[in-house]
Amino acid sequence: MAQDSRASALKGVPETMLWTLYHRAAEARRPDTVLADPLAVELVEAVDFPFVERFGPAHPLVAQAIALRAGCFDAVVREFLAVYPAGTVVSLGEGLETGFWRVDNGTVDWLTVDLPEPLALRHALLPHGPRQRTLARDARDPAWIDRVDPARGVLVLAQGLFMYLRPTEVRDLIAGCAEAFPGGGLVFDAIPRLRSRRARRDRPRRVSGAYRLPPMPWRMNVADRPGLATAHPAVAEIKDVPLPPGRGPVLGLLTPRADRLPVVRNRRPSVTLLRFASR
Ligand SMILES: C[S@@+](CC[C@H](N)C(=O)[O-])C[C@H]1O[C@@H](n2cnc3c(N)ncnc32)[C@H](O)[C@@H]1O
Repeated sequence: MAQDSRASALKGVPETMLWTLYHRAAEARRPDTVLADPLAVELVEAVDFPFVERFGPAHPLVAQAIALRAGCFDAVVREFLAVYPAGTVVSLGEGLETGFWRVDNGTVDWLTVDLPEPLALRHALLPHGPRQRTLARDARDPAWIDRVDPARGVLVLAQGLFMYLRPTEVRDLIAGCAEAFPGGGLVFDAIPRLRSRRARRDRPRRVSGAYRLPPMPWRMNVADRPGLATAHPAVAEIKDVPLPPGRGPVLGLLTPRADRLPVVRNRRPSVTLLRFASR
């Protein structure tokens, strides 16, 4: 099962899929976890990669936040599948996310789109069944859109992806989905814009240990959300997706009240669901 050379060969943005997996697994190991994700734990144990040396000890707050973010996406998928049980979920930049196994209803059609090297590692580590298709493509290349039948209902997920793209690329992706998937939806997360000019520079971001996340050229404050409607006339609804309840003073107490706190309500990580008009 060891895939060390493939995992260790990942650099830059593709490597971040190991970082998010590592944190989701750390959270999933807790008896009081906010996200049951046994497969993430198995994956971290199966892949021969020096997680601790590379990323430092998993930060409990970061681990919980990443698991809550995944839980947020799961909730949107479950809502979608309640309406379209055999609908298509397209997961852009899916990395080693195990969301399919958390939400599978037995009839969903799931398409994973990721770059060739990360996707090869995913294939080597995870069993893909007949309802799980994969496509080694850059999500910015609209060719993946042709692989999706818009008639069965479509929900596009972009978890942990948009921040690594350029603003024009994010806009083009939103517009492409709005054009191709009438009645469909797109859910994505965003981190807030930074205040100081110095911090705004495209600098790698240090989170824990010596590891630095790659530069994040696209950021969005909550107050910027209405502007997403200008990406395409079919953007019919822009909805906040709140994080599920967490533990502790920050994610248990502060985050659920963030909307009532000045400054924080605008400058907070957010998850947004866009719904597209039917034709
Ligand atoms: C932070 S990881 C997120 C992985 C997963 N969604 C999660 O939340 O754990 C970013 C993922 O986006 C993928 N990615 C980066 N740029 C991409 C692009 N242009 N097209 C498709 N995938 C991309 C990377 O390979 C990686 O799997």
